Amino acid sequence: MRDFRADALSTFLHLRETYGDALRFRFLLHFHGHAFFHPDHVEHILVHNNRNYVKMRGPGNELLRPVVGNGLLTSDGDFWLRQRRLAQPAFHRRRIAAFSTTMTGAAGAMLDRWADRAGTGQPWDVAEEMRRLTLEIAGRTLFSVDLTGEAETIGDAFVTASQKVIDYSAIPYGSLFLRVPFMPGVRTLNRNVAALDSVVNGLIAERRQRRREGQGESADLLDMLMDARDEETGATMTDEQLRDEVMTLLLAGHETTALALSWTFYLLSQHPEVRERLEAEVDAVLGGRVPTMDDIHALAYTSQVIDEALRLYPPAYLLSRFVVENDVVDGYDIPAGSVLSLSPYVTHRHPEFWPEPERFDPDRFTPEQQAGRPRFAYFPFGGGPRQCIGNRFALTEAVLVLAMVTQRYRLDLVPGHPIALEPLITLRPKHGILVTSTGRS
Ligand code: HEM
Repeated sequence: MRDFRADALSTFLHLRETYGDALRFRFLLHFHGHAFFHPDHVEHILVHNNRNYVKMRGPGNELLRPVVGNGLLTSDGDFWLRQRRLAQPAFHRRRIAAFSTTMTGAAGAMLDRWADRAGTGQPWDVAEEMRRLTLEIAGRTLFSVDLTGEAETIGDAFVTASQKVIDYSAIPYGSLFLRVPFMPGVRTLNRNVAALDSVVNGLIAERRQRRREGQGESADLLDMLMDARDEETGATMTDEQLRDEVMTLLLAGHETTALALSWTFYLLSQHPEVRERLEAEVDAVLGGRVPTMDDIHALAYTSQVIDEALRLYPPAYLLSRFVVENDVVDGYDIPAGSVLSLSPYVTHRHPEFWPEPERFDPDRFTPEQQAGRPRFAYFPFGGGPRQCIGNRFALTEAVLVLAMVTQRYRLDLVPGHPIALEPLITLRPKHGILVTSTGRS
C-alpha cells in the first residue's frame, strides 16, 4: 500500500517485471486483489467472461461514486444496459460528423486567441487550454450549452475531488469512510462535489424550464435522456439519475480527451522528427484549410501520433472490477468476492508486444504493425460491452484539434519545466505542461 501510494505506476511496472503477468496480493489479511497484464487475460476479463467482472464494488468505481453517482461509468446489469442503449445513438457516426464542425469551430477560436502570445516567449499551460477546449466542445455537442464560464469551477472541483478520492483509495474500506461527513478530507470532497452538482443541476433545471416553455427542442443528449421512458413502467429518469448521467458524460467526455492532447503536445515537443513529419502530412492534406471529418482518413500519421500518445499516457490508466463467481484465468484460480485491476499503462509497455516500450514511435500504429499484435495489447478505451462509449467522439476530436494546432503553431516545452505523472482518477501531468509557442507561416 505504501509503495502504491508513493508511485502506483512504477509499482505496477516493477511487480510485473518481478512476478510476471498475473499477480495476487492480499490486504487486510483476507481480501484478495489481482492484477492481470497479458493481452489474453485482458480479453478474457473484458470480453469472453465479462459478465463475471462487474463494476459495482470494484474499488476504483466505488470511490468514483460520490462524484459520478450511478451513471453509465459505474452502474451494472439491466440498469446499465438500458442507459447505455439510450445514450448510444448520440455517439453514432452521423452524429459525430455533425459534432465535428462544433469541434473545429471551438478549436479555431482558441487558436485565434493564441495569436498574441506566439513568438513572445511567454509560457502557458497547454494542459489547461486543452481542458477548457474539450469542456467547451462537450458542453456544446452533448448538452447544447456554453460551459466556458464554468471551466474554472469544474476544473478545480474535479481535480480536488479526484485527489480526495485517491487519498481514500489507499485506505482499506476507503469507500465506506467517504460516507462519513466529518472524516478529514471528506468535507472538502463534498464541497467540491457540491460545486460540480450546482453546475449540472443548473444545466438540468434550465433545460426543464425551456421544455416547459415549449422552446425549440435541441434534440441533444440531454433531451434524449429526458425523453427516455422505462419500457415497463413508462417512468422517466429521476432528477438524480439524470444528474448522474450528465455528470458522468461531462467529466468522462472532456478530461480524458484533454489529457490525450496534452500528452501528445508534450511528446511532440520532445521529438522534433515526428513533429516535422506530422507538419508535412497536415500541410499536404489540408493545405491550410480547416479539416473536416472526411479528412481524417487521409490524416493517417496524425491519427498514429494520437494512438501512440494514448499508448504511453493512457488517461484511463487503471480499470477495476469485482469478481462475481469463481473463475480460472490462464490456470490461476480467481475467487468470487475478490477484486482485480487491469492497467493499460502497464500492458502498453509489455516488452513482448512493444519493443523498446518507452520509445515514442507513431509507426507502431501502421496497419501492418497493428495486425501483428494481439487485440488487447492496446486498450486505451477498454473493451467488450463496457468499452468507452465516446471513443470515436474522442479520436475525432483529438485528430481534428491536433491537425489544426499543427497547421498554425509549434509548441515547445519550457526548458527545465518538470514533467511528472500524477495518477489520480485519470493520468494527469502533475505540474501541467508549460510551453511557449511560435507561429508557422
Ligand atoms: C481519449 C479519451 C478517452 C479515453 C482514454 C477514455 C477511456 C475510457 C475507458 C478505458 C473506459 C472503460 C472503463 C472501464 O472499462 O472500466 C471508458 C468508459 C466510458 N467513457 Fe471514455 N474515454 C475517453 C473519452 C470519452 C468521451 C469523449 C466520452 C463521452 C463523450 C466518454 C464517456 C465514457 C463513458 C460514458 C464510459 C462508460 C461506458 C460504459 O460503461 O457503458 N469517454 N472510457
